Amino acid sequence: MLTLRGGAMIPSQRHLFDIPEDIAYLNCAYLGPLSHSVVAAGRQASAKKSQPWEIGSEDFFTDTEIARALFAGLINASDDDIAIVPAASYGVSVAARNLPLANGQSVVVLAEQFPSNVYAWRESAGAAGARVMTVARPEHGDVTRAVLDALDERTAIVALPHCHWADGALLDLETIGHRCRELGASLVLDVTQSAGVMPLDVNVIQPDFLVAACYKWLLGPYSIGFLYVAPHRQDGKPIEFNWRARLGSDNFAGLVNYEDTYVSGAHRFDVGECANFQTMPAVIAALQQIRDWGVPAIAKTLATRNEGIAERAAELGLESLGAERRAGHFLSLRFPRGIPEGLLDTLRQARVYVSVRGDSLRITPHLYNDDADVDRLMRALERAID
Ligand SMILES: Cc1ncc(COP(=O)(O)O)c(C=O)c1O
Repeated sequence: MLTLRGGAMIPSQRHLFDIPEDIAYLNCAYLGPLSHSVVAAGRQASAKKSQPWEIGSEDFFTDTEIARALFAGLINASDDDIAIVPAASYGVSVAARNLPLANGQSVVVLAEQFPSNVYAWRESAGAAGARVMTVARPEHGDVTRAVLDALDERTAIVALPHCHWADGALLDLETIGHRCRELGASLVLDVTQSAGVMPLDVNVIQPDFLVAACYKWLLGPYSIGFLYVAPHRQDGKPIEFNWRARLGSDNFAGLVNYEDTYVSGAHRFDVGECANFQTMPAVIAALQQIRDWGVPAIAKTLATRNEGIAERAAELGLESLGAERRAGHFLSLRFPRGIPEGLLDTLRQARVYVSVRGDSLRITPHLYNDDADVDRLMRALERAID
């Protein structure tokens, strides 16, 4: 196997997935498919619930800790810094509930940022007399510079992704994190579109909160995600009253000895029923697979795949953000005369699955893609442009 800087190239892993040969699924930013092993783990877990006598009280705790540790490993956090949440919006709500925001201050977000990292800020800014400041798409294309230019002493919270969900425009979170600390601003990250495919180290970036939903690039089930909570934010208020977050809750016989003290770490922010023993084994299988491939190698492979597509698309006159401006796993193609009418239908008829976001075609492959998928995409694009 060819070794390149930042990880080894991984050959197509199509055999691990249920994706027929004649389907070019290049839409992981929309929904990541479950691999065979994840489906098998989910089936087994569901079957277990048909025999509840097989589910012991320890099952409410064992798998959650394994999943927590696996996610922590992806972002170089401690297991105890991770809470289990049902959605990115839930994690951002926890952050909004716990970060101070005063009259005259601002929360900085990107233009056309995914709504799960916007609505909570509108709400808390409205309540505090603060404002949500939206960083417009810069003409110069450097989103990091545009964010840095928008930060000042009024900035209380900076709520961002690692890359824009529509076109993959990349942010330098290390530099932004550093500037936040200089200004005393909090940093909240929604890395749903990058966790598991872009290396990220919370010790370097130092966010206050970071959330990722599991169902895209982590190739896991829907309705589950992870929230990193920095140690200095772990004494905050959860947004619900999950009994499991209280000290001694592993003793089921004593649950009505109501307890005011929370368990340590970020566990107090766990969503109710986070044990989710029908889903958690599937989450674990998905995260183990990501760990085994290795994030740097995934990133390298997908970046190379997209560079190849970008070169061929350029021959058709389609433009994309330069590789230095976008996350490697995203490719967003612009048509010089706008999106051709019925483009997605034409592509679907050719069994090519991608998304349109804004005025560009979003192509987001994963390791299950192969060269035949790219050929199929290019043939379909050629026909669509004619
Ligand atoms: C950047 C980003 N965050 C979050 C989500 C999903 O949010 P939630 O888990 O709140 O449904 C998406 C879905 O497209 C997304 O693109």
